[in-house]
Amino acid sequence: MSNYFITGGAGFIGSEFLRVVLRNDPDCVITNFDALTYAGRRENFEGLGFEDAGTRGHGNTGTRFFVKGDIRDSEAVMATLPDECDAIFHLAAESHVDRSIESAHDFVTTNVLGTQVLLDCAREKRVKRFVHISTDEVMGSLPEDDSTFFTEDSPFEPNSPYAASKAAAEHLVRAASETFGLDTVITRCGNNYGPRQFPEKLIPLMISNALADKPLPLYGDGLNVRDWIYVTDHCEAIWEVYKMAEPGSVYNIGARNTIRNIDVVTTILDILDKPHSLIEPVEDRLGHDRRYAIDPARIENEIGWSPKVSWEEGIRRTIDWYRQ
Ligand SMILES: NC(=O)c1ccc[n+]([C@@H]2O[C@H](COP(=O)([O-])OP(=O)(O)OC[C@H]3O[C@@H](n4cnc5c(N)ncnc54)[C@H](O)[C@@H]3O)[C@@H](O)[C@H]2O)c1
Repeated sequence: MSNYFITGGAGFIGSEFLRVVLRNDPDCVITNFDALTYAGRRENFEGLGFEDAGTRGHGNTGTRFFVKGDIRDSEAVMATLPDECDAIFHLAAESHVDRSIESAHDFVTTNVLGTQVLLDCAREKRVKRFVHISTDEVMGSLPEDDSTFFTEDSPFEPNSPYAASKAAAEHLVRAASETFGLDTVITRCGNNYGPRQFPEKLIPLMISNALADKPLPLYGDGLNVRDWIYVTDHCEAIWEVYKMAEPGSVYNIGARNTIRNIDVVTTILDILDKPHSLIEPVEDRLGHDRRYAIDPARIENEIGWSPKVSWEEGIRRTIDWYRQ
């Protein structure tokens, strides 16, 4: 029976990843380790059978444990990490760029130091594989024209404190692999959308405001481009990479779906039958990356993964979820 330790399982992507793991490996043991910050909610994993387990989740008789704990706390991580752990899936992070611009402190302690704590614990407990969830934002911003893409070999050029903290975390994961031979894999995904995302990010904020007939604040000229992927597709890609990737490898994850922010917002308004006059341009975000676009050829060719949910279907599912 496989035994997995998943950080950030109360968050947006982590809670979807729990569902994907349980579908792919229903008999596994999972410890869901999450500090329940403002972004983590118990409701996100309600109904999946997780029981509260203090720190010694693996000592209980069930197979799905929730432990409220902080990845910066090495004693708590060591006390919780199973002795025979097949994989750590590391999704816990401070994840909102705007908050990192207000204060980078928690981003450095959680995303950088917290990752190092997990790597040290993984080595000590001889965890078989460390799967690190990163972001395309470590590679900075692309030019406006649509001829360039991020590949796995693109240089690191993080522009926000969030992206810089995720870049630092990736370097530490690589160092653990190169120096100590820890079996690591890294995934870098673009912008996710879907149910259970905290409504501070673009899509859930715009849906929530449109539903309430409130103004939709759109940064700058609205022409920033993001590469959108439905959250389930991202989580299935992580699972496939976990099963198939070579130790030390890096995979970009993308759905070949680049859209301008203004077009995302008008799509939401049109589906909800709300007027475009609700859009309210606001002063641009500091250091706002202009364009993200991922070349997913490596994961498509080497792992055989491809996304299943189209943008048209995914955005409708997402809107339906927030409406309910
Ligand atoms: N959202 C995206 O579009 C996106 C894209 C690419 C990569 N990522 C990465 O995916 C991961 C998950 O992102 P998300 O959007 O689900 O984030 P989220 O903010 O929704 O969830 C983060 C989770 O981590 C937990 N957490 C935060 N600090 C912690 C700490 N110190 N100890 C333990 N738990 C802590 C929170 O309680 C929360 O449940 C992050 O690593 C993020 O960088 C996100």
